[in-house]
Amino acid sequence: MFNVFAPMSVAERRDQRAAYQQFLTERDGLPDFERQTLPHREARMAHFTKPLPRLRTLDRELFEQQYTHYRAQLDTPPELLLLLSMVKVNAAEAYGVKQSIDAVRRLAVERGDTLELQVLMEEDYHTRILLSAACLYGLTIDAPYDPPPSLRLMVSAIASTPDFIARPVTLAGEIVGTVLFANLLEWTRKNLHHDPELRDAMEERLVDVLIDEIGHISYNRMHMGPVSLAQTRAIVPFALGGLTAVAPELLRLGVLPRNAGRAVMALGECGQLPECVSKHAFFA
Ligand SMILES: [Fe+2]
Ligand SMILES: [Fe+2]
Repeated sequence: MFNVFAPMSVAERRDQRAAYQQFLTERDGLPDFERQTLPHREARMAHFTKPLPRLRTLDRELFEQQYTHYRAQLDTPPELLLLLSMVKVNAAEAYGVKQSIDAVRRLAVERGDTLELQVLMEEDYHTRILLSAACLYGLTIDAPYDPPPSLRLMVSAIASTPDFIARPVTLAGEIVGTVLFANLLEWTRKNLHHDPELRDAMEERLVDVLIDEIGHISYNRMHMGPVSLAQTRAIVPFALGGLTAVAPELLRLGVLPRNAGRAVMALGECGQLPECVSKHAFFA
């Protein structure tokens, strides 16, 4: 049982922090903070950016149209909706990383503690991993999708608030993201069975991101007491709304949970997570 809202004792937090640091070193390799790279993840990226032996086709004009400005009334095949979701879903997160990376780097140097910075570096890889789905269709998308101005404003505001305000919002975002990636994985397994090679390529990306996100939930919990965790529970439904604003495709695909509370409970019971995720993720 993974109770995302249960507070840890001070001793538990200290021990779990050390264990998570160890887990990240094994998973990512030794970080290069100057170049902002993680060696094991770079190797994975080389794999993800290599197209499959056969390029998949799609209606490029429709993709461009829907990518620039999604219109629900345009008939859009499910596979194209999945690709749009993959390349747009991390927009707010990518924007948040850009806003906060310098401050997090400064703090890491000041405190001699690089854990938060490494978590943020993993977020950067998520954007790259998800964008790399485009190469399966012969498309190159190098830059993250721009979130709407209202969301950019909110993300910038959160990035400049003190930790006790920002942390519950961050954890709510991690929880919602994890539920969503688990749903996307389930959708992919159910709906791409006609093309196992493509299904596996999408799955690999989603599994990599999901394993990290569970670690991020655990990591953020290590910094929070009962009040902050109660605030997180209250924020989760709003974080879900923010995602719909970035990628309405998710709604059309049916991967946004209707009931946030029930989705979080399912996540806590790990029932929704396949073994390839639950076996390799860091739960605390
Ligand atoms: Fe992420
Ligand atoms: Fe995350």
